Amino acid sequence: MTRVFSGIKPTGNVHLGNLFGALTRWVDDQHRADSIYCVVDLHALTVPQDPAELREATLRLAQILLAVGIDPSVSTLFVQSHVPEHTEGAWLMECTAAFGELRRMTQFKDKSDKADFVSGGLFTYPALMAADILLYDTDEVPVGDDQRQHVELARDLAERFNSRYGPTFTVPRATFPAAGARIMDLQDPTSKMSKSEDQAPGTILFLDEPAAIEKKLKRAVTDTEAEVRYDVAAKPGVSNLLSILGAATGRTPEEAAQGYTQYGPLKTDAAAAVIERLAPMQERFRELAADPAETARILAAGAEKARAVAAATLTRAKDHIGLLPPG
Ligand code: TYM
Repeated sequence: MTRVFSGIKPTGNVHLGNLFGALTRWVDDQHRADSIYCVVDLHALTVPQDPAELREATLRLAQILLAVGIDPSVSTLFVQSHVPEHTEGAWLMECTAAFGELRRMTQFKDKSDKADFVSGGLFTYPALMAADILLYDTDEVPVGDDQRQHVELARDLAERFNSRYGPTFTVPRATFPAAGARIMDLQDPTSKMSKSEDQAPGTILFLDEPAAIEKKLKRAVTDTEAEVRYDVAAKPGVSNLLSILGAATGRTPEEAAQGYTQYGPLKTDAAAAVIERLAPMQERFRELAADPAETARILAAGAEKARAVAAATLTRAKDHIGLLPPG
C-alpha cells in the first residue's frame, strides 16, 4: 500500500493556503493510502518561540487537523517531538547533505535575509524534514508548491544514502493539488499567502468568520482589465481567485473560470464557496477544542504507532552507515 507522510508547523494561524495546498488532500489521501501526519513542533523551534504559546499552538493545530477531517482510526496523527527518532534521523541527514546544498534552499535564503537572529536550526531544517519523510518509507508527500525544493532534497539524500550504504530508504516524491498548490496573498498576489502575516487583510484564516472572509475576498486586488481568465503571470490576482474557487469546489482554476465575465460575481462566489467549505470544519474544531484530553489521547496513540515504524527504519539506517549496535 502507498505510504503518505506530511507535516505542518505549529506557528501562526492555519490559513487557506495550508488548507488547499496540503490539508484537504491529507484527508483525501487517508482513504487510499497508509497515511501518517505530523505536527512538526521541532521545526517551529528554528525561530524563538514563547513556550506557553508553542504548547497551546501544537494542541490547537492537532485539533484543527482533526476538524479538517483527519480520521485517527485510519491515519496516524502525532507530534514530532513525541518521536525522538526524528532528531536522531536528522543528524544522519545533516551528515548526508552537503553544506552547499543546504545553502541553496530558497526558503533559508528568504527567511535568513529577513530574520534578526538566524539559528543553526534554520539552516539545517531541510535535513530534519528529510528525516521526517524518510523514517516512514514514504512514497508520497502531499505539500504546497513552497515545499517542492525541500522534498527534492529529501529525494536526493535518500538516493545518496542508498548508493553509499546500500538500499535503506524509500525515495519519496512530492504531490501537488490541481488547484491551490500556491495560494497567494489577496492584497499582494505575487507573494504567497502566509501564516506570519497575522490578521493581514490578504490572508484568510481557518477560523475567520463568514463576514471577514467576504470582506477580504471582496477587497482582493485584481487588475484594471475586466476579463476573467487563468493566467498567473499576466493576471495574478484574478488567477488566485480562480485557484481559491477551484480548490473550494474541487475543480481546476480553468474550469472554475467558466461563465464569469466580471470580477464581482467571481469574488462573491469564491467567498460563498470558501465559507461553505470552512463552516463544518470550524464547527468540529469548536467541539474538539472543548475536549483537549481526547486530542491528547489521540496524539499519544499516534506517537506510539509512528514510533514503531520510525524506530525500525532508523535501526536499519544506523546499521547500514556503520554505527555499532549496543550490546
Ligand atoms: P508549513 O507549516 O509552512 O505549511 C504546511 C503546508 O501548507 C502548505 N502551504 C501552502 N500551500 C499553498 N499555498 C500557500 N500559500 C501555502 N502556504 C503553506 C505547505 O506547502 C505545506 O504543505 N517544512 C514544512 C513542514 C514539514 C513537512 C515535513 C512537510 C516538516 N516536515 C515533512 C512535509 C513532510 C512547512 O514548513 O510547512
